[in-house]
Amino acid sequence: MLKRTKIKSLLSSENPIDSVILKGWVKTKRDSKDFSFLEINDGSCLKNIQVIANNSLNNYNEIKKLTTGSSVCVKGALVESKGGKQKFEVVAESVEIYGIAPDDYPLQKKGMSDEFLRSIAHLRPRTNKYGAAFRVRSRLSYAVHNFFQSRGFYYVHTPLITASDCEGAGEMFQVTTLDLKNPPKLPNGEIDYSKDFFGKEARLTVSGQLNGEMYSCALGDIYTFGPTFRAENSNTQRHAAEFWMIEPEMAFADIYDDMDLAEDFVRYLVKDIMENCADDLDLFEKFVDPTLKETLSNIVDNSFARITYTEALEIMKKSSHKFEYQPEYGIDLQTEHERFLAETYFKRPVIVRDYPKEIKAFYMRLNDDGKTVAAMDVLVPRIGELIGGSEREERYDLLVKRIKELGMDVNNYSWYLDSRKYGTVNHAGFGLGFERMMMLVTGIANIRDTIPFPRTPKSIGF
Ligand code: 4AD
Ligand code: MG
Repeated sequence: MLKRTKIKSLLSSENPIDSVILKGWVKTKRDSKDFSFLEINDGSCLKNIQVIANNSLNNYNEIKKLTTGSSVCVKGALVESKGGKQKFEVVAESVEIYGIAPDDYPLQKKGMSDEFLRSIAHLRPRTNKYGAAFRVRSRLSYAVHNFFQSRGFYYVHTPLITASDCEGAGEMFQVTTLDLKNPPKLPNGEIDYSKDFFGKEARLTVSGQLNGEMYSCALGDIYTFGPTFRAENSNTQRHAAEFWMIEPEMAFADIYDDMDLAEDFVRYLVKDIMENCADDLDLFEKFVDPTLKETLSNIVDNSFARITYTEALEIMKKSSHKFEYQPEYGIDLQTEHERFLAETYFKRPVIVRDYPKEIKAFYMRLNDDGKTVAAMDVLVPRIGELIGGSEREERYDLLVKRIKELGMDVNNYSWYLDSRKYGTVNHAGFGLGFERMMMLVTGIANIRDTIPFPRTPKSIGF
């Protein structure tokens, strides 16, 4: 029995084909005297295929009632198109109607706003732009695995539910099965978590790093690629409460190996998308960011700038740029500072390293100056921070000291400390925010438009 062929394959066929089946949704319909033209899309690619339905078809009266968004199955012949725009079109022998989309189908006109489309996130992948975005997202995921697998990194699945706060920022969602209206209490009035599902407080992970490190100290080079959660109450264009992160970790590696890997990785991903999603990128360049391809070529063709945090502050203090938040040694870099460095000053990605230890997480390796840690962030034009990483503190005593200094409970980290107790090795890794990478390669300005069903403060529809 003949199966359906995807429109992407039909449009790239070498030759006409006598008999094909295609299935999809009607984008537009035009009627002339003796026939109707249907533009059909099935999501396999950006382009539609044109179907010619003659009035001799027995259900022609029904075909004439087809609306935008209706679903159909077309059998017919793939023939060379006389019209010009496209190489092939299909002359229908039959058009079976699966489902009509009534007049209230929301995707009628062109140029709907991103805000409106967010309110119909369940339908937006049927638009050209969001179809393109989510095809790119799929390819980008594939490229992530290709990059690491081809370099001998092993893919590790780290847990999503955890009892440790990796980043120590306290921005975690709690996971509990206790009755919130009537939780069990200890004599001192506090909640008795020994009665909770896990017997202690549990949260959704902000990062798979701590677990990933254990596997790098066994398998060598590993990476994670999974969802992470942050209860940061920041309503910005680049923060989501649920986002995907890729976290490679390398044993026997230092901060310089880490920066090299980060740079190679970003460049590889950009190049892969330019090579494999050309049609979709054309759309983004036309409708989203006219400088997109220039920005991407610039990333592929040039090495990243590399400076220390101290140098970054000197550059900003010397510049005449007006910052809302004054750059002073010791501050955590704000988005405006990150963008100034990448976009305005270097005009390309820049890696900043050696941050003051006070503004970074407990696990980062203390530098010889005793003040800074071997941390590195990759900052890119338009977005700012794309990657955060570091060499890890592999010296047992220093790590314990830091955990205590920060008022964290050493007992919670005994398993983590074992990696330093038994055959410790230097190691380094980073986390790349997958949606921020999506923003970079598509030019899409709002993170909510790079993930199928975004989760942000006060927003959990769909
Ligand atoms: O810099 P972060 O917090 O680093 C870590 O979590 C480390 N444990 C990574 C590691 O060394 N293995 O987060 C890493 C990246 C950021 O650079 C950013 O791209 C992204 O994750 N990110 C977010 N993306 C979207 N929404 C948020 N709320 C994000 N928070 C961080
Ligand atoms: Mg960071």
